[in-house]
Amino acid sequence: MSVLKLDLWSSEFYFNVGTHSIRRTTFFGLFLTISAIASVLFYFLYLIHLYFSNLIDPQFRQQNFITDEKKEVPLTNDLIGFQFYYNLSTTLDQYQASQNKTYLVYIAQFYYQDTNNNIYNTIYLNTVKCSDPQLKGFICIDFTQASNYTYLLDASNSNYVYSSIQINIYGCNDLDTVKTTIPNNCAAQSDVEKLINQADAYFYLKLKTQQFNTTSKMIETKYRTIYNYVQSNQYVLNTLYTQKQDTVVYSGLWYQKQEKFSSPIQYNQITQHFDRNIGLANGLGPYSQSELLMDEIVKQFQIEYPTIIKLLTLVHAVAGLAMLTRLLGRFYSQSVTKQDFLSLFLQNIYNQKYENINLHNDQLNQKTDCPVQIPIINQSFQNKMSVFYTQNQTIDNWFKNNPIDNVEDDCMTHQKINNSFNFQINSQKPQIKEQKERQQVNIEYK
Ligand SMILES: *[C@@H]1O[C@H](CO)[C@@H](O)[C@H](O)[C@H]1NC(C)=O
Ligand SMILES: *[C@@H]1O[C@H](CO)[C@@H](O)[C@H](O)[C@H]1NC(C)=O
Ligand SMILES: *[C@@H]1O[C@H](CO)[C@@H](O)[C@H](O)[C@H]1NC(C)=O
Ligand SMILES: *[C@@H]1O[C@H](CO)[C@@H](O)[C@H](O)[C@H]1NC(C)=O
Ligand SMILES: *[C@@H]1O[C@H](CO)[C@@H](O)[C@H](O)[C@H]1NC(C)=O
Ligand SMILES: *[C@@H]1O[C@H](CO)[C@@H](O)[C@H](O)[C@H]1NC(C)=O
Ligand SMILES: *[C@@H]1O[C@H](CO)[C@@H](O)[C@H](O)[C@H]1NC(C)=O
Repeated sequence: MSVLKLDLWSSEFYFNVGTHSIRRTTFFGLFLTISAIASVLFYFLYLIHLYFSNLIDPQFRQQNFITDEKKEVPLTNDLIGFQFYYNLSTTLDQYQASQNKTYLVYIAQFYYQDTNNNIYNTIYLNTVKCSDPQLKGFICIDFTQASNYTYLLDASNSNYVYSSIQINIYGCNDLDTVKTTIPNNCAAQSDVEKLINQADAYFYLKLKTQQFNTTSKMIETKYRTIYNYVQSNQYVLNTLYTQKQDTVVYSGLWYQKQEKFSSPIQYNQITQHFDRNIGLANGLGPYSQSELLMDEIVKQFQIEYPTIIKLLTLVHAVAGLAMLTRLLGRFYSQSVTKQDFLSLFLQNIYNQKYENINLHNDQLNQKTDCPVQIPIINQSFQNKMSVFYTQNQTIDNWFKNNPIDNVEDDCMTHQKINNSFNFQINSQKPQIKEQKERQQVNIEYK
């Protein structure tokens, strides 16, 4: 095999053989072509199926940004849910109802600050039973009194505008700058402290988070849960920094449409403990205060579903593999072309010398009554040719066994003229030998 055969960029030459096409086509090649096209088509349909079943993972990019830009979240009643648990199974509300006494009081506040414009607003908010099924049994904040505000942080324009949400838990009898009234059916302070100091008593917060579910292609709402334990002599300050996510989703097979989602996704918690009595004396002494502040960090997500172009790129890769069958087909086609050449060569050469020769590839392969195989020709087309005749004898052997100059049998007529032999091959049955067309091959023998 020559190294030159590795040259993939060699020019091709075409020859009018077999069919009327300028290419040598073969059934094997047709089979390969059909299987290559079928497998590529199948793969394409398979990808389309995966695409519409949403089983192709989208491209996902995530970055955390600290920006000065305005970050805001609308104030909705389902933003926060909370509940104080008397023990693991009983809520404060249930316990208070059973005792017909008030032990603890929740006070929710909204604070808004705009330093440059000298605005410092505190709004007291009502608490209501949550309506969201995920917050069943919890208490929510009714933001209608702060409806023209948002939960925000804006450090742009060398200003510092922010808002915060506070949930305070006070003992029923406490009084300070925030809690200025005492309900009329308070439990005794010692009972309140007993309740607060219960081993199982805890404060339970549920904070809204939203994220894009790439499988269902929908924004999904879940709640982050945060527990806090309290003690009667402590003022627990629980600061929760809300991180917001900005998600951009590109989807669509042909045209990529863009969707944007923005909502809280994460809460970072910092807890500080103070002496409650000192706090009360200084004007702020709840048992627990949970403060929600907007974080500077924004999580940015970019989700890109594949387009038809991306799918076609995948198909193209598979088509590249299918091209291997092309090599196979080519190789086969070339070997067939070589055979064509051979028979053509014989036809032309011997046609010139003897007009009645009609050797054709089909005839050579045809099974006649005469088991003549002509010719197995030395590839280099030297003067010498080996002809197998009857019992697989080479021409040398055959003449050794038949040392006559002129031989005739049922299948072949042979004449020796000097160093040259003339063969006449009978393609018809011996019985009708008289009418047969005679074919002659002249083989020079040395
Ligand atoms: C919680 O307290 C209630 C009322 O005192 C009681 O009925 C219930 O069994 C307690 N549950 C647990 C788990 O201790
Ligand atoms: C609950 O207490 C209030 C006053 O403290 C009283 O008027 C009311 O009747 C009580 N209800 C029950 C069911 O004990
Ligand atoms: C909201 O409305 C109140 C009065 O209704 C007003 O004082 C306050 O400035 C408004 N806040 C914003 C952010 O527009
Ligand atoms: C996304 O949605 C699918 C289908 O609704 C659900 O099976 C899957 O659990 C969701 N994934 C997450 C992380 O919630
Ligand atoms: C072709 O002929 C040459 C010389 O006649 C010989 O050496 C060579 O082996 C032959 N090749 C084949 C494949 O018969
Ligand atoms: C002729 O040669 C072929 C292959 O070389 C072999 O399969 C076959 O049996 C031979 N025929 C005879 C009659 O020897
Ligand atoms: C055979 O060879 C002889 C002498 O070499 C020559 O005279 C004769 O013409 C040749 N016959 C043929 C048919 O070429």
